[in-house]
Amino acid sequence: MKVITILGTRPEITKLSLLLPLLDQNFNHVVIHTGQHYDYNMDAVFFEELNIRKPDFMLGVGSGSQSQQTAKMMIGIEEILLKEKPDAVIVFADPNTPLAGALATVKLHIPLIHLEAGCRSFNKKMPEEINRVVCDHCADLLLAPDDIAKENLLREGLPLNKIFVVGSTAIEATTRNVLIANKNVNLIKNLDLTPKNYVLLTIHRAENTDDHLVLKGLIESINTLSELIEIVFPIHPRTKKSLELNSFKLSSKIKVINPISNLELLSLLDNALFVMSDSGGIQEEAAALNIPCLILRNETEWTYLTDAGKNLLLGTDKKKIISVVKELIEDESKIQKMKNVQLNLKSSVAEKIVEVIKNEFKR
Ligand code: UD1
Repeated sequence: MKVITILGTRPEITKLSLLLPLLDQNFNHVVIHTGQHYDYNMDAVFFEELNIRKPDFMLGVGSGSQSQQTAKMMIGIEEILLKEKPDAVIVFADPNTPLAGALATVKLHIPLIHLEAGCRSFNKKMPEEINRVVCDHCADLLLAPDDIAKENLLREGLPLNKIFVVGSTAIEATTRNVLIANKNVNLIKNLDLTPKNYVLLTIHRAENTDDHLVLKGLIESINTLSELIEIVFPIHPRTKKSLELNSFKLSSKIKVINPISNLELLSLLDNALFVMSDSGGIQEEAAALNIPCLILRNETEWTYLTDAGKNLLLGTDKKKIISVVKELIEDESKIQKMKNVQLNLKSSVAEKIVEVIKNEFKR
């Protein structure tokens, strides 16, 4: 069976790091990289560190508006699919890369497998929400991370016999990759940080970076909080551009660093007191490492973590961010309470994905 996997951004690469070698072992497996992320530290470093084999095709689409980027990818992907004639195509989660992959695949009547299916924020202003709904509705096989995602799919009328709950590839990859991270990475020392005495911060989502008022509120709250605790902020290129465009200044107390590799991020996360982030991936990575995550958004796809009390949906309101974070810093029992929450997580996720694909395509 010939299977093509399409990827192109940081989270796809890291979350697929355990699955890609298994797909190589079990199928005639071809990998297409769209080049949505292209800077060395947003892309190549992930392949090197996680020891992932090189993609077979590199489209190199780069930046552009949502439609330009998606359209360029579709053209490149279609050409390869016509040549390679796969039996199935795998796309992962919700960036523009899986959207383009799903559309190109389904229009050629090739079976589509969507991993991390069924996640919903119910916020249509997020490009990712549109992407994941389209991917799910194009897919012939839906591999969901949890029961909530499965319920979302059923509510949208997708057929029960095409949905399989396999668990989270992110949690599984984190649990393995943190072991490599803590052996190899000296970032904590190089940045002169004391373990459990700093907060990790990431902001990159369009609804936070591209809205002048939201970004202003976020920056002002972070600047205020940097008087109370050390903050480390690996900055995404999109966020850096928005700060420059709006002339927003970060306090000199904040340790602003360039984007870092996944292993470096895991090591910073594993040693942090807690993390503040609008990333989808970090919410699960934090849970895997048992580090409380305060989510800088008004909704989350990972409600199994917020419902359990493991993560906290903080929002983007300046006053609320400052008061909640202050309380956490002043009363450590609140952090401990989040850490004490037990989760019932699935294991052998990558193996299960391969097994389901084999079974479903046997028929
Ligand atoms: C994308 C995904 C998001 C994922 C995130 C991880 C979409 C809609 N969103 O967001 O789900 O969590 O990746 O990082 O696909 N840029 C660079 N160098 C790079 C990549 C991007 O400079 O290597 C800049 C470009 O100016 C680009 C901007 O960042 O315009 C945004 O990049 P884009 O690929 O559109 O989406 P992300 O914000 O990275």
